[in-house]
Amino acid sequence: MSFPRLFGRRTASAPAPAATMTPAADRPGAVSMAEGKATAGAAASALREIRFADVCVGVLDDTAEGEVIRAILSDVTFTLAEDRVVFLGANGSGKSTLLQLFNGLVTANSGQVHIDGMNPVAAPAQVRSRVGFVFTDPAAQLVMPTPIEDIELSLRKRVPKAERRAAALTVLEELGIADLADRSVYELSGGQRQLVALAAVLAVDPQILVLDEPTTLLDLRNREKLRTLLGEVVTRRGVRVIFSTHDLEFATLADRALVVDGGRIVHDSAPAEAVEAYRALIMSEST
Ligand SMILES: Nc1ncnc2c1ncn2[C@@H]1O[C@H](COP(=O)(O)OP(=O)(O)OP(=O)(O)O)[C@@H](O)[C@H]1O
Ligand SMILES: [Mg+2]
Repeated sequence: MSFPRLFGRRTASAPAPAATMTPAADRPGAVSMAEGKATAGAAASALREIRFADVCVGVLDDTAEGEVIRAILSDVTFTLAEDRVVFLGANGSGKSTLLQLFNGLVTANSGQVHIDGMNPVAAPAQVRSRVGFVFTDPAAQLVMPTPIEDIELSLRKRVPKAERRAAALTVLEELGIADLADRSVYELSGGQRQLVALAAVLAVDPQILVLDEPTTLLDLRNREKLRTLLGEVVTRRGVRVIFSTHDLEFATLADRALVVDGGRIVHDSAPAEAVEAYRALIMSEST
């Protein structure tokens, strides 16, 4: 029996990255000292630009040759230099696959991905230390029994043990969820877990924050809190935020919006026009 696989998930030059969870070693900031020095050197000379050129991702059959049996992303080309960028598109259009290219969770079968001048396949640790990824499903990345322990895990390479709990609490306070610190993550609501997952990623100061549908589980108050928080990380910390969403109102916080359809970028503009283009696309399909 053969199983289809995503093109590029296995390569000769890089081990298969985890597709469904962010194990501790893969968290941003979780790099060895040697890698850390390389990261600092790379960061000093890096461009502040995300560049995709003719990127294709497909599903392969399980033969030795690995024939593409289905395309997921085709000829994706863009250069992103804006602080806030959103990807819009229907279910299955390719948004999550595209976002996972940003930190090497998925690799391209052809074309090029450069994150601030670095290639996620050639320099995976450096790219992961720069790019924080927040999954739609927080269960994919919360690995410790309580929120505070999860944040402490994120901080283990940056903050001495004696100061770690206080530092972790500060991060939870920033998101207004310090009261959840010692609760079991299994008892938390979906929205609470989504905020904890975001806190665990923000704790290690990523320079690029990638969020896959960050508002799906949030109520109105937490959605507005997230909007404010993302604004703050952009203005105070200089973080760039890349996200996907089905929440067309939330999408308007972006500076630029790209619409994905059938694995291709079909529109690229300011959010208001992109939302209109996306609506027109859906309406044209349903008539
Ligand atoms: N590991 C995989 N193996 C095979 N097919 C996959 C894999 N991951 C994604 N796909 C397929 O690729 C297409 C794009 O999926 P993707 O998750 O990127 O879409 P999406 O735009 O994020 O959708 P949604 O809005 O539902 O989250 C879908 O048809 C999906 O079934
Ligand atoms: Mg998705």
